[in-house]
Amino acid sequence: MIEPRKAILEMPEYHPPLAGREHALRLDFNENTFAPSPRVMDVIKNITAEDLTVYPEREPRERIAAKHLGLAPEQVLLTNAVDEAIHIITYTFLNEGDEALFAVPSFFMYDVNVQAMGAKAVRVQSDDSLRFPFGRILKAITPKTKLIILCTPNNPTGGTIAREQILAIAKAAPQAVIFVDEAYYHFFGETVIGDIGKVPNIILARTFSKAYGLANLRVGLIAGPADLMKHMRKAASPYNVNGVALRCLEAAMADEEYVAWYTQQIKTGREKLAAALRELEIPFWPSAANFILTRIGPRHKNLVAAMKAKGVLLRDRSADPGLAGCVRITVGVEEQNARCIAALREAVDEIDWQPAEAKIPDIEDEDEREYE
Ligand SMILES: Cc1ncc(COP(=O)(O)O)c(C=O)c1O
Repeated sequence: MIEPRKAILEMPEYHPPLAGREHALRLDFNENTFAPSPRVMDVIKNITAEDLTVYPEREPRERIAAKHLGLAPEQVLLTNAVDEAIHIITYTFLNEGDEALFAVPSFFMYDVNVQAMGAKAVRVQSDDSLRFPFGRILKAITPKTKLIILCTPNNPTGGTIAREQILAIAKAAPQAVIFVDEAYYHFFGETVIGDIGKVPNIILARTFSKAYGLANLRVGLIAGPADLMKHMRKAASPYNVNGVALRCLEAAMADEEYVAWYTQQIKTGREKLAAALRELEIPFWPSAANFILTRIGPRHKNLVAAMKAKGVLLRDRSADPGLAGCVRITVGVEEQNARCIAALREAVDEIDWQPAEAKIPDIEDEDEREYE
């Protein structure tokens, strides 16, 4: 029997529930729920048959992306969205037996990629506050720590990590690459991009799948100091981002106004959804992203099913570490949020859901004390 590498045999699988989403309101995957900039659609309409015959040239768009971000071209690598960025980072820096440290619950692809490299995933569980466990992450650093993944805003909690905390972690682990996943940056507004090239071990990733609305084109980037980027560039396939995506990327970046509009829709919608949740007495965690994590309790599946029957898809996060009974709701544009809130009121009524089912215990946050 032909066997794969041991690490592949043992790594977890990720099967996102993507089937049957076509005609529903997609509040389950934290995508842009509306559309990219109209300028992107113009680019697509003008793609010729010949355009499809040529290999894509990444480098010119890399220069444009770097300029857009205020970085040097050597500090930026375009990737097949952040999923590939995570792959490239782990593939470049992790040897078998190295430790990769991250807080959980967080994005599952960290587990998948770290374990595929035969490295050890060191997971630090957040407490019920779901705040970033800063003190315990610091304590978990060892001489074997080669990669620390910091997701801010974090998926699926919506929580953030202060820049001062990121810098303190980078200082405490000079032997490690500090990878800041800024997939949800636009909905938050804080970034460590100004530290790129100044702090020797900080790198970050950004995606065009969220605020820009290009999830289907698969495009994102890694930014970091040139000496680290050199290794990652070597590890990346030369044609990792297709030519249609590269052209659309340029158009999307040029339309700042559109991204500002979409981001504002999310920020306003996030507040409206939070107000509705408060009114319905559904507990939730504060979010700086385009989604809100709620705690429904033991009948989480019933609520998700009742919402699905109304054509609104939510994501059951109950299986995530520490998230028993939790459901995540993506925020969309105004009319979509109104539809979601109306459906939520009906669904709660239909299943006769009671706030007592979902109490979040009050827990004092030790990490916060240590940081202060
Ligand atoms: C924290 C985080 N990072 C990365 C990604 C991957 O995004 P993409 O591969 O579409 O850029 C996601 C997707 O949901 C995410 O939540």
